[in-house]
Amino acid sequence: MKKVILTGDRPTGRLHVGHYVGSLSERVKLQNSGEYDEIYIMIADAQALTDNAEHPEKVRQNIIQVALDYLACGLDPEKSTLFIQSMVPELTELSFYYMNLVTVSRLQRNPTVKSEIKQRNFEASIPVGFFCYPISQAADITAFKATAVPAGEDQMPMVEQCKEIVHKFNSVYGETLVDPQIVLPSNKACLRLPGIDGKAKMSKSLGNCIYLSDEPEVVKKKVMSMFTDPNHLRVQDPGKVEGNPVFIYLDAFCKDEYFAEFLPEYQNLDELKAHYQRGGLGDVKVKKFLNKVLEAEFAPIRERRKMWETRIPEVYDILKEGTKVARKKAQETLNEVRDAMKINYFDGNDL
Ligand code: TRP
Repeated sequence: MKKVILTGDRPTGRLHVGHYVGSLSERVKLQNSGEYDEIYIMIADAQALTDNAEHPEKVRQNIIQVALDYLACGLDPEKSTLFIQSMVPELTELSFYYMNLVTVSRLQRNPTVKSEIKQRNFEASIPVGFFCYPISQAADITAFKATAVPAGEDQMPMVEQCKEIVHKFNSVYGETLVDPQIVLPSNKACLRLPGIDGKAKMSKSLGNCIYLSDEPEVVKKKVMSMFTDPNHLRVQDPGKVEGNPVFIYLDAFCKDEYFAEFLPEYQNLDELKAHYQRGGLGDVKVKKFLNKVLEAEFAPIRERRKMWETRIPEVYDILKEGTKVARKKAQETLNEVRDAMKINYFDGNDL
């Protein structure tokens, strides 16, 4: 069986370092491993519209931002197909058929949908499209026969729901769809990067993000304002590293070689943590180090983004070409789905 990747992001804003450690860097690694036969990376504009129906312009403007972030991170159009979801209408048709295989109560139990409904104050009036987006996500994944979905931990319930749809479809209509697996980052700190304010999740709506496109001064300001251990008031006080966003970021981004380069008094992160826990190590020093680590990690990405910003027509061509390739594959799957469901009317001469 072919090894296929499908994943994507909603274009509701620029991508941030939480996206990077949670999913983008993993995709680039998988892309460059050469182990995958096909890689599809989707800008999920139709999904973004499920809770932005009144702001299509916002979604439209962010398509290019997300595409730039993709290219900046090292997604390579020679190896990965980048495309725009709504330009593959086959996905919508697949969603419509899958809707018959899912119950309302199952959607209501989807933990990601539940928490997003709360977050958006949708409790009293949930848009139907928003409520059904896990189904459309199953269409995205299955249309490409994806075997692997590199994504953040928050997408686990989506992939679970997709698997259920695959099993249901295959048991009712015969073996047609492929069962996907989520691919999570192996580093635990990367599973869910907290915001700079220490809130559980880095998220645009919470205003606690460091963006891939932030300039160095902006990153520095954000890092210096980060929450740490609230009880670590004086330098000599013992500090806590668990749940301390500065140390979680170091867990996610720091490599041993950065100590030799920027903070040679320590060999590695364990030594730095031990000193902080003992007392005698101030937050400012740790934050300055974190800032240097982030600069080392993200300077090349920022540069590549700037380069692509001067080549927008080429980025448009990449998206147009990618969408053509993606559409062809989705059409093939849709035909198989219609065959399996016996709604392939007039395929021969008969109804
Ligand atoms: N839900 C994803 C996000 O919030 C975007 C997305 C849409 C997606 N379809 C997908 C991710 C299929 C993985 C697989 O950004």
